[in-house]
Amino acid sequence: MSQVLASDASGDEPPVFDLVGIGFGPSNLAMAVALTEHNAKAGIAGAVTAHFLERQHRFGWHRGMLIEDATMQVSFLKDLVSLRNPASEFSFLSYLHSKGRLVDFVNHKSLFPLRVEFHDYFEWAAEKVDDLVSYGHEVVAVRPVVRDGAVVYLDVVAKAGACSDPAVVYRARNVVVAPGLEPCLPAGIRSSAKIWHSHELLYRAEMLRRRAPSRFVVVGAGQSAAEIVAYLHEQFPRAQVCAVFSRYGYSPADDSPFANRVFDPAAVDDYFTAPEAVKQRLMDYHRNTNYSVVDLDLIEELYRRAYQERVLGVERLRMMNLARVTKVVETADRVQATVTSLITGETTVLDADAVVYATGYRAQDPTDLLIDADRYCRRDEQGRLRVARDYRVVAAPEMRCGVYLQGGTEHSHGITSSLLSNTAVRAGEILRSVVAHRDDAPVERAGLAATGTGHA
Ligand code: FDA
Ligand code: NAP
Repeated sequence: MSQVLASDASGDEPPVFDLVGIGFGPSNLAMAVALTEHNAKAGIAGAVTAHFLERQHRFGWHRGMLIEDATMQVSFLKDLVSLRNPASEFSFLSYLHSKGRLVDFVNHKSLFPLRVEFHDYFEWAAEKVDDLVSYGHEVVAVRPVVRDGAVVYLDVVAKAGACSDPAVVYRARNVVVAPGLEPCLPAGIRSSAKIWHSHELLYRAEMLRRRAPSRFVVVGAGQSAAEIVAYLHEQFPRAQVCAVFSRYGYSPADDSPFANRVFDPAAVDDYFTAPEAVKQRLMDYHRNTNYSVVDLDLIEELYRRAYQERVLGVERLRMMNLARVTKVVETADRVQATVTSLITGETTVLDADAVVYATGYRAQDPTDLLIDADRYCRRDEQGRLRVARDYRVVAAPEMRCGVYLQGGTEHSHGITSSLLSNTAVRAGEILRSVVAHRDDAPVERAGLAATGTGHA
């Protein structure tokens, strides 16, 4: 890995990157790939210098939910590159070829690889652009560098190593903020060894293996909840698994072809230009392509298991629909969940080894990171960041730098904001915008070149 120039927070002038990426999940990985392909063609003068900062110590995509038999919910053709550059050497097909599995995959006749396989693909791609990333670097702030009243750079401040270590600063003309999703727990609930959010599943479940657990409670009726119910039921054959949710039954994800067009690149244009009321209507119509829904195959598998148990007279899989968990109390080595019926108000106390909250995620608020830079960013009447079609945050005129968002743009760009479907195309659009803004300011660029950029 080549050495990256940064400075500690002691005051030395750091070198300037055209782009610093915050977070290195699939979104900024796709960004790194897009600019690697761009730089291969652009020559030194046209190259975009960039560096990415990732708080995890190695690449990882929802590792706590890498259940071995779980499959992707998006076609493999919506990989990091193919919809932008079908001939890319970073495609899932190139990955398969390099692993000697291309023909086997074709014979499998599926568009939906295993999640573990797609994770391996991401890792393979991340490895190829390893020189552009610093892992173990948590971004804690983005500070504007103001000269003559204008914000000429953004200093991205990251903590690496021990808390006592000085922060490291990466200076950028543009930042691409892609911190992903953060887990949602109901108000008043904190995760612990016995109360988990779904994203922790595999780590937490592993710790219970030695204890022969007798009961789990799983809250929620989305894809995560259903996968977890199936997983715990299978992995802990002596445990009862109680699925608690307020719906009547799991609702199937609408992945029918016409509805699926809501994930198309063109749908972003439609959504972006639609009046606010139409945006809301679109979201309401098509929420069931993604939120609080489950793949039909999995619903049928869970029903098959539940019915089989009824026949056999051993009901380990217990569906507690039209219900909510209204109280959770931890004891020394157990947890007691009170389940309240939404119809009768009747309560049932379940004594369990763990309660798993598969209660979803929310986009991380970029404001938490932007801090000082945030005051230059414009907001709409609902307090949401105003974001242009090229994903650049609309900013005050004195802001000369670009703040781009990958994620957190559902209000402006639609449902693909937090998903993989549009990642390849979006990365290309952001890169084009970065290059276009740079080419519009050649004098500044020449000035920056003198300060030195890039990698040592
Ligand atoms: P992602 O969350 O993947 O990455 C963000 C990265 O930023 C993380 O690595 C994080 O550590 C890092 N980070 C955050 N804050 C930081 C900071 N301050 N400093 C440095 N680094 C920081 N979608 C889809 O289209 N098809 C699918 O099949 C699935 N499957 C799926 C399964 C599960 C279990 C979940 C929870 C979600 C999905 N999704 C999905 C949706 C999911 O959001 C999507 O697959 C990607 O993770 C989005 O990629 P991002 O890079 O935007 O976020
Ligand atoms: P989700 O779809 O948002 O579902 C959350 C569930 O929790 C819903 O059933 C919701 O109730 C319930 N809930 C929310 N708050 C609650 C509360 N306070 N009390 C009780 N219940 C509450 O979340 P998810 O299942 O984690 O899915 C998130 C994203 O990850 C989706 O994009 C999904 O496709 C993706 N994902 C993909 C895979 C895969 O690729 N295999 C696996 C897992 C997740 P309601 O039913 O009332 O809305």
